[in-house]
Amino acid sequence: MLSVAVLISGTGSNLRALLDAAADPSYPARIVVVGADREADGLAHAEEFGIPSFTVPWSGHTSREAWGAELDAQLRVWQPDLIVLSGLMRLLPPAVVSAWSPRIVNTHPAYLPEFPGAHGVRDALAAGATQTGASVIVVDDGVDTGPVLAQERVPVLPGDTEHSLHERIKPVERRLLIDVVRRIAEGGLDLGTVRDRPRSASS
Ligand code: GRF
Repeated sequence: MLSVAVLISGTGSNLRALLDAAADPSYPARIVVVGADREADGLAHAEEFGIPSFTVPWSGHTSREAWGAELDAQLRVWQPDLIVLSGLMRLLPPAVVSAWSPRIVNTHPAYLPEFPGAHGVRDALAAGATQTGASVIVVDDGVDTGPVLAQERVPVLPGDTEHSLHERIKPVERRLLIDVVRRIAEGGLDLGTVRDRPRSASS
């Protein structure tokens, strides 16, 4: 059974989907703890499922490194096999990435390497894209630059707002995330052998 820590910042709808999946005894992973960088609404899902949670507030720290060190200490208590960033709106400091790499995955609401960063949905709309997507990647030191584990296209429809497009992407993100975690747990996806994608010359 794969033990998973999930880190969130927001409403935690992707977390909720993973909790629902893991409630099925045939699902090969269990969420052992949920962490957040603020008093995120999504922590209520953990409480409802009786899963422990912790908060390491960004605001209480003087640097990304100090925040990351406390986050790392919390994660070490639970010794998860895998860390899922599910809407955590903070970059992990390099020390945390290297401590857990390659066992950290992230969901992203765009078809990477298109539209990386905090505003992937907004940026796709602003670019006039006719399609965008959802991706699950391994976290590395860059901003959404790690190897892609799964991704799928989502159409941009006439009249889409950032909200409507994001709401169409999220169910795809959830499905991909649940499938990736299952494949990792079942040994069909070995994170240790996933190759880095080539960086562009400018990065
Ligand atoms: C997801 O689209 C995630 O990829 C993005 O923020 C959203 C999280 O939503 N970075 P939720 O908190 O799971 O509802």
